Amino acid sequence: MKAVVLVGGLGTRLRPLTCNTPKPMIPLVNQPFIERMIENLRDQGITEVILAVQYLADRFRDALGDGSRLGVKVHIIEEPEPRGTAGAVKNVEHMLDDTTFVFNGDVLTDLDLQAMLAYHRARGSKLTIALTPVEDPTAFGLVETLADGRISRFLEKPRPEDVTTNMINAGTYILEPEVFKYVPPGQFYMFERGLFPVMLQTSDPMFGYPSHAYWTDVGKPQAYIEVHHDILIGKVKYPFKGKQLGDRIWAEGEVQIHPSAQLVGPLVLGHGVTIGADAKLIGPTVVGPHCTISAEASIEGAVLWDGNDIGPGAVLRSCVVGRNNRIGPKTHLLDGTIVGDDCTIGGENRLERGVRIWPGTELKDQAISF
Ligand code: GTP
Repeated sequence: MKAVVLVGGLGTRLRPLTCNTPKPMIPLVNQPFIERMIENLRDQGITEVILAVQYLADRFRDALGDGSRLGVKVHIIEEPEPRGTAGAVKNVEHMLDDTTFVFNGDVLTDLDLQAMLAYHRARGSKLTIALTPVEDPTAFGLVETLADGRISRFLEKPRPEDVTTNMINAGTYILEPEVFKYVPPGQFYMFERGLFPVMLQTSDPMFGYPSHAYWTDVGKPQAYIEVHHDILIGKVKYPFKGKQLGDRIWAEGEVQIHPSAQLVGPLVLGHGVTIGADAKLIGPTVVGPHCTISAEASIEGAVLWDGNDIGPGAVLRSCVVGRNNRIGPKTHLLDGTIVGDDCTIGGENRLERGVRIWPGTELKDQAISF
C-alpha cells in the first residue's frame, strides 16, 4: 500500500530551527522525525512512501535516498512551486493506483492505520479523515459528523457558543484517487479550504474516523519540547535507541560522565557526549551526539541537538539548542528560548521568555545581562 507524506511546508512557526533543517527532518530524540515516521508506516503495512517535498528538498534526498536503508520504497517528488496540501498530492496523482494514505509530515501519532483502513472500507468511503479531540475547540477547525461517521460540516475556529464538537482534523487521510478529479491541476489548492468543502457539496461519501490515539503537531516550539517529555515519560509509544545506564537514563553510544555529575532521568545522551564535574542533568532532557556539558552546568527539561558546547556553570531550562553552538560560562537559556545553529553566545547572558536566536548569531559576554 502507498502513502503520500506532505513535507513541503516552510515550518515558519519552528524557526530558527527550520532555517537549515526542514521541519520533518528535525530530530525527535536524536532521530530525524521523518525517518521514524517512515519506520512506523513500514511497521503498519505501508510498502511505498511518496514524499511531496518543496523546501530544502536535497536534505531529504541525502538522508533517505530510495528508502532501502529503512526497508520501504521512498520516492522524493519535488513540486515546481508550493501547491498546498491537496495540490501537492494532485502533483503525484499519476503515481497513485489504489486506496492511499496521506499524512501531514509534522504530526506524531500512534494511530492504528489498519483499523482506520478497515473503517474506510466498511463504509465505502471515498475520503476518510482521522479526527482527534482537543481541549479548546475554539482554536481549531472542527469536523462535525453524523451518527454513522459521515462528515456533515466543517467549522473554522468557532465562537464558544457555536461549538458542537471537540473533534479536529488530525492530518491523516485515506482517499480513493478518483477524488482528485475535483482538484485543479498545477494550482495551489488546500484540502481544508478546497477539496473537503467541494466533497460536501457533491455528496461523495466522506467520513471522519474518531480516535483517542496520541496526537500532537510537533510544528510549534512548545509542542516540540513537550513531545520530547511525552516520549521520555512513555506517554506515547516511540522507540528510541540506546542502552540503559541507570534509572531511566539511556546512552546511544560511548559517553563520558564525571563521577560527581548528577543525573536524574528520564535522559537520553547521544554518542560522544561528555559531562563534566558537578554538572547536573535533570529529565526529561535529550542531549544530542558530541555535546560537551562543562563542569557545574545545569540542564533541565531541554532538547539539545548535536555538537553543542555548554560552558561551565551555564543553566539551560525548558529550551531548545540547535546544532554546533557555543554557550558561554554562566549563561542562562530559559523558558522556551530557542537557539538556531552555529551560534556563539558569550558568558553571563540571560535569554528567556521564548527568545529566538537566528543561526550564526554571535553575542558578546554580558550582552543581555541579568
Ligand atoms: P508553518 O509554516 O509553521 O505553519 O508550517 P508548515 O509550512 O509545515 O505548514 P502546515 O503545518 O500548515 O502544513 C501541514 C503539513 O503540510 C506539513 O507537513 C507541511 O510540510 C505540509 N505542506 C504545507 N504546505 C505544503 C505545500 O505547499 N506542499 C507540500 N508538498 N507540503 C505542504
